[in-house]
Amino acid sequence: MAKVIVTGAAGFIGSHLVETLLKQGEEIIGIDEFNDYYDPMFKRKNIAYLNSYSNFTLIEGNIQFLDWTTLLQDVKIIYHQAAQAGVRASWGQSFRAYTERNINATQVLLEAAKNAKNLKRLVFASTSSVYGDAETLPTDESIFPHPVSPYGITKLAAERLCGLYQKNFGVPIVSLRYFTVYGTRQRPDMAFHKFFKAVLQDEAIPIYGDGQQTRDFTYVSDVIAANLVAATVPAAVGEIFNIGGGSRVVLTEVLDTMAEIVGKPIKKNHIEKAMGDARHTAADISKAQKILGYQPQVPLREGLAQEWQWVKTLY
Ligand SMILES: NC(=O)c1ccc[n+]([C@@H]2O[C@H](COP(=O)([O-])OP(=O)(O)OC[C@H]3O[C@@H](n4cnc5c(N)ncnc54)[C@H](O)[C@@H]3O)[C@@H](O)[C@H]2O)c1
Repeated sequence: MAKVIVTGAAGFIGSHLVETLLKQGEEIIGIDEFNDYYDPMFKRKNIAYLNSYSNFTLIEGNIQFLDWTTLLQDVKIIYHQAAQAGVRASWGQSFRAYTERNINATQVLLEAAKNAKNLKRLVFASTSSVYGDAETLPTDESIFPHPVSPYGITKLAAERLCGLYQKNFGVPIVSLRYFTVYGTRQRPDMAFHKFFKAVLQDEAIPIYGDGQQTRDFTYVSDVIAANLVAATVPAAVGEIFNIGGGSRVVLTEVLDTMAEIVGKPIKKNHIEKAMGDARHTAADISKAQKILGYQPQVPLREGLAQEWQWVKTLY
C-alpha cells in the first residue's frame, strides 16, 4: 500500500493529523526529531497511544539527515508540518533554529520530492505570519506578504521554495496558511495553553499590550480537515490557501469566554507588546471554501471548552 508521510508527527498539529489518518487505515510514517523548543515530554504524550497502531511507523530524526530516496519510494502524500514555530523566540540567538528547521529542512525535503515517482501531493504548513500587519482585513491570498517577525520571514521563504519546486519540477505542492491554531495538545508556548494553565494554578494571565489585538482562531480539527482535502482536490495543486476559523475575535473577548468556561474571573497581568506580533489577523477563506470546500466547523466557545478539559488532565 502506498504510504503517507507526516513530518512533525509528534507536534501539536502533526500528531492530530497522524491520529486522523491512522483511523482512516492509512499506512503512516511519522517523522519527528523531538527537539527541545518546548519540553519533548509533551510530544511523547501526543503520540504515546498512536504507537499501538500497527499501520504507524515513527522515525525519530532530523529531516535534513534522513535517507529520503529510500523513504519516498512508495510514498503518495507528504504532509510537511515540521517547523520551528513561535514568533517571539525567533529574534536573536535562536534564529539559526528557524533557518535550519524552516528553510533548510524544507529544501532537503523538496529536493527529494522532485525525484519521487509515486508522489501525488505535498501539503506544506504555512502560516498567517507571512502577512504581518496586513493592510486589508480580512486578508486574502493575493495580498503581498509583509512578515513582521523573523519566524514569518523563514516560513515565507519555505513557502516560496515550495512554489519554485512546483513550477520548475512539477512537485505537486499545496500551501495552507493556518491562522492561530488552538485545541487539545496545543503547544505550551501558545496563548490559550498558557492562559488555561495559569487559571489552573491560580496565577494571572500575561497579556501582551492592551488586549485589543484580534485573531482569527482556528480549531485544530478544522486544520486537519483542510489538510485532507488539500491532499486530494486536483485543482489545489500549486495553490496557496488561507485556513482560518471563520471569525475575528478581540483577545479581551476571548478572556471573557474563558472566564465563563472555567467558571471564575480571570486575573490579568498586562505586559509590554511583544515584538513581531501582528496587531490583527483575519483570514479571507473564500478561496479555500470555493476550491477545497473548506468550512470551519468548531466555534470558539466549543473549541476552548475542549482545550480546557485537556489542560486539566495534563497538569
Ligand atoms: N500552531 C499554530 O497556531 C500554527 C499556525 C500557523 C502555522 N503553523 C505551522 O504548523 C506546523 C505545525 O506547528 P505546531 O504548532 O504543531 O508545532 P510543533 O512545534 O508542536 O510541531 C512541530 C514538530 O516538528 C518537529 N521538527 C521540527 N524540525 C524538525 C526537523 N528538522 N526534523 C524533524 N522534526 C522536526 C518538532 O520536534 C515538533 O515536534 C508548523 O509548520 C508551523 O509553522 C502552526
